[in-house]
This record gives sequence, C-alpha cells and structure tokens, in this order.
Amino acid sequence: MQDFVMPEAMTQRDIEQTIANSVAAPGRAFADSFDGVELHCTSGYLPAQVLSTGTNQRTDQYDASLQNRLRFVLELVAAIAAVDGADRLGILTCPGNPFNDLADDNNQETFAAILQVLDPLGLAYLYVIRVPKIQDNVALGKANFSGPLILNESYNQQEAAAALVTPQIAGRSFGRAFIANLDLVHRFRHALPLSNIDPATLYTFGAKGYCDYPVSLA
Ligand SMILES: Cc1cc2nc3c(=O)[nH]c(=O)nc-3n(C[C@H](O)[C@H](O)[C@H](O)COP(=O)(O)O)c2cc1C
Repeated sequence: MQDFVMPEAMTQRDIEQTIANSVAAPGRAFADSFDGVELHCTSGYLPAQVLSTGTNQRTDQYDASLQNRLRFVLELVAAIAAVDGADRLGILTCPGNPFNDLADDNNQETFAAILQVLDPLGLAYLYVIRVPKIQDNVALGKANFSGPLILNESYNQQEAAAALVTPQIAGRSFGRAFIANLDLVHRFRHALPLSNIDPATLYTFGAKGYCDYPVSLA
C-alpha cells in the first residue's frame, strides 16, 4: 500500500486525454498477442467513480444524473470499439461493491441502465463479480445483457465445471486459487488438492507469496 495524492476533478481536456490514452492501451496489448481487453467498471476505478452517485460530484455533462453518469463509460467503449472492434472488449462489473469507498444510491438501476445501452454493441462478454449476501448480480447481468457472461468470486471447481453447460455462462474465473496454485489448471484437470493462499504475503515487497507456492508434481 502506498501514499496517494488528493484526487482532483478532471477537466474536459483530462477526460478527452484519458479516453485517448485508453484507446491507445489496447493496441499495445493486441500488438503483444493479447486476444482481448477488459474495461474495469468497479472497485473505485475511474469508470466506477463516474458511474456512482457517491463519488460523482460533477456539474457538467458527466454529472450525477443517470444518463450523464453513463456517458464516460459509453464514450470509452465507443472509442475502443471503433478502433479494435467491440468483440475484443469485455466489461468488468460488480454492482454493490463498496471497495475503495464506492457507493451508489441505486446501483442496480445504474447497472441495468449501462448494460442495456451496452448490450446492442456486441461486446465480447460481461464479467460479473457476485456479492451473494447483498444482491443477485448474476440475475442483474442476465436480465440486462444478452451476450456471454464470465462470473467471479469464491467459485470452486465443481461450480466452474457446471458453468460449461449453463446457457449464457461462458466461464467462471479464479483469483486467489491462481495465486496459491500456479498450476491450477493442471490441478483441476487431475483432481489434485489445492494449496491455500497465505493472506500475510499479499501486498508485501518481498518475493514470498509471489511465485513460490509449490507446484504439484503429480
Ligand atoms: C491480492 C489480491 C489482489 C487483487 N487485485 C485486484 C485488482 O487489482 N483488480 C481486480 O480487478 N481485482 C483484483 N482482485 C480481485 C480478484 O480479481 C477476484 O475478483 C477475487 O479474488 C475473487 O475471486 P476468487 O474468489 O476466485 O479469488 C484481487 C484479489 C486479491 C486476492
């Protein structure tokens, strides 16, 4: 964890520059043989800040009215899709996520609205992080987005396998299991036990916990 500067409101020029930078970045990824890129719309990152009533304090065409909160994400998506094709762009969402002080008066309304406008564009997929005890983000995604879904958060191998036969679910993703098991796919394939993640080695400067989890020899 590092210190950070006090954020300032972006000017119109800052916004245009950010969109231009965001269009340039995928090109570098594709030149380096990536298949696709993902626009991160949660966790307190910029698209989520503009989308959410708790952080959007603007007074211009990006202000906190519902239509204007959608504008930044729509401009970003349109700009990236125009250069790279919508089918190489996915969107990551987690409605209701309070991470980094994110808050929205009606996150379900916000995400329904943004997904309905994005849906006809033919994006590669919608990535949904679930928040089980709070609300049903998967249902929200399915109700407002007709393309493939990738689901995340605390899934196990059995649930992931079930995804393969579930309509509209293209996959389920793994975070912590991959950190603790560099050979996760091998372990899943051969039904091997998984190593547990050690939270004490996350967000540290040393090598420990970065790439020294044991690899299965089975
Ligand atoms: C140490 C750590 C760092 C993470 N950093 C990010 C991040 O920078 N961006 C992001 O989108 N998600 C991040 N995540 C969240 C994961 O992508 C994933 O959503 C989360 O671990 C839940 O999936 P899981 O249950 O399979 O672990 C992080 C997770 C962990 C454990």
